[in-house]
This record gives sequence, C-alpha cells and structure tokens, in this order.
Amino acid sequence: MFVKTIAVTESEQCQTVHIDLGERSYPIVIAAGLIEQAATFAACPNAAQAVIVTNTTVQPLYAAQLKAALQSKYGQVHTVVLPDGEAHKDWVTLNLIFDGMLANGCDRKTVLFALGGGVIGDMTGFAAASYMRGVPFVQVPTTLLSQVDSSVGGKTAINHPLGKNMIGAFYQPQLVVCDVASLNTLPAREIAAGLGEIIKYGPIADMNFFTWLEEHVDALRQRDRGALMHAVQRSVEIKAWVVGQDEKEAGLRAILNFGHTFGHAIEAGMGYGNWLHGEGVAAGMVMAAHLSQRLGLVDVEFVQRLTRLIERAGLPTRGAVLDAADNAGAYLEHMRVDKKAEAGAIRFVLIDGPGKAVVRSAPDALVREVIDLCCSQGVGIQVAE
Ligand code: NAD
Ligand code: GLY
Repeated sequence: MFVKTIAVTESEQCQTVHIDLGERSYPIVIAAGLIEQAATFAACPNAAQAVIVTNTTVQPLYAAQLKAALQSKYGQVHTVVLPDGEAHKDWVTLNLIFDGMLANGCDRKTVLFALGGGVIGDMTGFAAASYMRGVPFVQVPTTLLSQVDSSVGGKTAINHPLGKNMIGAFYQPQLVVCDVASLNTLPAREIAAGLGEIIKYGPIADMNFFTWLEEHVDALRQRDRGALMHAVQRSVEIKAWVVGQDEKEAGLRAILNFGHTFGHAIEAGMGYGNWLHGEGVAAGMVMAAHLSQRLGLVDVEFVQRLTRLIERAGLPTRGAVLDAADNAGAYLEHMRVDKKAEAGAIRFVLIDGPGKAVVRSAPDALVREVIDLCCSQGVGIQVAE
C-alpha cells in the first residue's frame, strides 16, 4: 500500500495536515514555536474557560507559555498538574482532572488543552469525553511519539493492571498543535521511542518513507529541524489517511498497531513505565516481522532491514524475558487480552510484503518459536532461515 499525500497546506515553516472525519474533522498544525501561538489556531468558542492538563515535568517547561497564549482568548485559564509517568495512567490520576474541573466550576463549554506526551494526551482526551458527557479538547503534544501518533485519531484511554489502554473512548480533539521546538528538551531516549512509532509507518504503508528514514535516522536523532518536520508531517499524513477511512477500528485502522501486540505484552509484563511504549513497539515490530517471515509473507532480507533501522534508531531489537520459567506462555497470556483478540484468539498485525499490512492469527506453536528466538540471550540480528 502506498498512501498518497493528502491535503497538506505547506509553507517552509508551517504545515497543516487535515484529518477528514466529517463534522469531527480537524487540522494538525506542525511548526516550531506554536505553543505561544496556540490561541490563534484554537477554534473553540471565546469566553469559555480553558484548562491546561499537564504533568510535573512539562509544566515548568511550557505551561506558562501556553497559559499566556490562552489568556488572550479565554476568560479563565486553569492548570491541572498530574504526576508524570505511564504508571499514573490510571483511574486515580484521571480523577485529579475531574477534581480540578469541578473545583473551578468548569461548565460544558470548557476547553481542555492536553500539554505533554501521549500519557497526558490519552488521559485528557478520556476526561474530555466523560466530563459532563463531553467537552471540547485540544492536543498540544510535546513528545515525538505523541506528535507522530497518539495526538491524532481520537483514541483516549487509561490502563488497567490486566491490560494496557483497556478503559477508554474514541473522542476526537478539535485541533492538534505540534510544536517541534518543544522536542529540544526531550531526553534522547524519548526521541528514540518516538522513532519507533515513526518507523512502523514504512512497513505498513509507505516503503519510500522507510527508505527516507534509513537516510535520515541520524539527522532525526540529532533533532535536525527539517528532518523532524518531514517525519512528523508524513507520519501524521499516513495516520490521518488510515483513520479517515476507519475511525473506530472496524478493520483497516488495526494496521497502526504493527508491533503493538508483542509490545503491549512487554510493557504490561515488565510493569508500566519500565519499557517505554516506543521501545516495546520497536522490539514488537521485530517479533512481528519474524512471525511474518515464518508465515511466508516477507523474506529474511526484509526482517534484517527493519531490524537494522530499529537498531540505528537506538531502540531494542529483542524482547524482554517476562518469565524465566515460561516466557512464551507469559507473552501469550498478556496477548490474549489485546483488544484485537477475538474469542481468545490473538490477532497479529503482520507484514504481507513490504509496505502492506494484514491482520490475522497465527498458530501458537509458531508464536512460541518467535518469542523464544527473539527474547533469548544473544546479540546481533537473528533471522529464521
Ligand atoms: P509520555 O507521555 O510518558 O512522555 C514521555 C516523557 O517525556 C514523560 O516523562 C514526559 O513528562 C516527558 N516529556 C513530555 N514532553 C517533554 C518535553 N517537551 N521535554 C521534556 N520532557 C518531556 O510518553 P509518550 O511516549 O509521549 O506517550 C506514550 C503513551 O502514548 C502511552 O501511554 C501509549 O499507550 C500512548 N499512545 C497512544 C496512542 C493513541 O492513539 N492514543 C498511540 C500511541 C501511543
Ligand atoms: N496508535 C494506534 C491507533 O491510533 O490506532
């Protein structure tokens, strides 16, 4: 599948990708220095209250800038600061958003602004979907991962101890504001994690983009502004193209979960927050590629090529050992609660020739073989012959 370029308003400094969902359509604006200009783009009603939801790490970096910008548009701007981390993507922390909104007398015209990474975006979106049965919200993603993936498409959720993102809603934002300058303060490990979600778009949809990533992965790791702008724009274009056809994941949208079935098992199995989401996805893509190869869908060279790019991005190419006694069993147990599973049968996003994804089940014995191959001790790329 090659995803054509969709509506993009382009200038050297600012690009806008439009996601087409009828009355729920919205723009994704990408440029440097956008947090200060957020009010210019915000299409939500004047005079309503605004609430910035952020965390203890991002608040000192960007909340004052965003608040100053929003004060020109909204009568009152409140800030709710949550504890940082995937381990806090839960009911207790979600409730802090409702506590803050109720304490400030927020009505149903209040606009929520999610300022932070995917954890803040997913939780704020879920709060927006639920508060007074739905209030508008704007995504202001400040991690590479959230700019290229989680802020777009309207999936909102919190985790359950038994499964990742198990409690949530589809709820679209009014607007996504990607300020690529905010990536300057992001730790290198988080840049790499974002690259994991960027790399997935190649095998599932656009191998020309994959080749571009092979040529620019070093520039991206060094935060070259032009390279980052292009990577965010192309990723968002592909995501908008997929979500525009299948908003609620009746079928096609599942391809965006390439690497996630194994990756979510690693995240949950290792304890949320120990492996970053993008790291789990990276190792999970290698595992899914091996499974694709064993099912005869791709050749060994493709698995090697994908593994090399993931390695160059600074990401893990091997899965974690979740249980020394029965590692494959532990993976299978986690993967059976994956949202794609049907009647207990695990369904994987596999690569059906580079650039095209397919969602299907696989025999447990083969899945066990791949887990054993990809999680055993050892170095270098191991590809099934
Ligand atoms: P994150 O939200 O935990 O952010 C990573 C870290 O970077 C945090 O410590 C955060 O405080 C910090 N941070 C954020 N912006 C910063 C900045 N500009 N400078 C310095 N530090 C900064 O993690 P993430 O990778 O952004 O998101 C992962 C989450 O997104 C997971 O919960 C995952 O399930 C979810 N996700 C959702 C979707 C979706 O479609 N809704 C898609 C992919 C991932
Ligand atoms: N990140 C997967 C999706 O949005 O569907």
